[in-house]
Amino acid sequence: FQYWCGDLFLQARKTPKHLTFSGTTWTQEIVDMIQHNGDTEKCKRESTYKRHPFLEWFLAEQPAGLELAEAMPSPRTIKTHLPTQLLPPSFWEQNCKIIYVARNAKDNLVSYYHFHRMNKGLPDPGTWEEFVEKFMTGKVLWGSWYDHVKGWWKAKDKHRILYLFYEDMKENPKREIQKIAKFLEKDLSQEVLNKIVHNTSFEVMKENPMANYTKDFQGIMDHSISPFMRKGTVADWKNHFTVAQNEKFDEDYKKKMSDTSLVFRMEL
Ligand SMILES: *[C@@H]1O[C@H](CO)[C@@H](O)[C@H](O)[C@H]1NC(C)=O
Ligand SMILES: *[C@@H]1O[C@H](CO)[C@@H](O)[C@H](O)[C@H]1NC(C)=O
Repeated sequence: FQYWCGDLFLQARKTPKHLTFSGTTWTQEIVDMIQHNGDTEKCKRESTYKRHPFLEWFLAEQPAGLELAEAMPSPRTIKTHLPTQLLPPSFWEQNCKIIYVARNAKDNLVSYYHFHRMNKGLPDPGTWEEFVEKFMTGKVLWGSWYDHVKGWWKAKDKHRILYLFYEDMKENPKREIQKIAKFLEKDLSQEVLNKIVHNTSFEVMKENPMANYTKDFQGIMDHSISPFMRKGTVADWKNHFTVAQNEKFDEDYKKKMSDTSLVFRMEL
């Protein structure tokens, strides 16, 4: 989930952008590599968190996302998980470029659950059963997944939004990276494109200390419980949902998603 902008709050020619549990860090790395024409040395200048301020993030132990964003020179690339209705109006007014990455609800839920387990800065997720219930009722941080993906899907008809799917990115990363480059108005050579595909693959990113969240949030994130870069696959939900849970989830999903043309692939 991510943003990109001509201006954030203050000065002209500042540029934000964002990403999530649905491929945020992944897309951030892709965008950073595109912006630096595939130069991995430049992309190693700082951790993901420092390269792309997380707009609404505030934990006493870390510099606040907003502070980092305000200190950043233009053009800025900013991360947020905010739903459309909470996005600061200036993002719309300034016609920011926004990249939104959506991931199917079940994998998103699984990823979110493990992220809560390893991140002490977030509320205790409770048991798996309890967390499924919280997710379905939207009682999770950043609110209802259903409203979130639908809200941004609707917004894309009126604003400069590139709406991507995690499943498409897994299926054909090269194609999706090209889409992002086009959206950012960057021409990439085949060589650079291939390099970006390689260096933003799950296996390489997991070992990239600037992207795997081991530099920041020490004492907050416990990678021994569950690494930040956990699996990066599609359909891992099958290893988590019971048959009964899956049926209940599907039934509820149908109702909540009946008013949108948005379609997700739960497996490839
Ligand atoms: C990019 O990939 C190359 C080749 O595998 C590797 O040597 C390098 O460490 C990677 N860079 C980053 C930042 O992951
Ligand atoms: C993060 O990257 C470092 C450096 O490659 C590696 O040693 C470590 O195992 C990675 N950590 C996680 C949790 O993925």
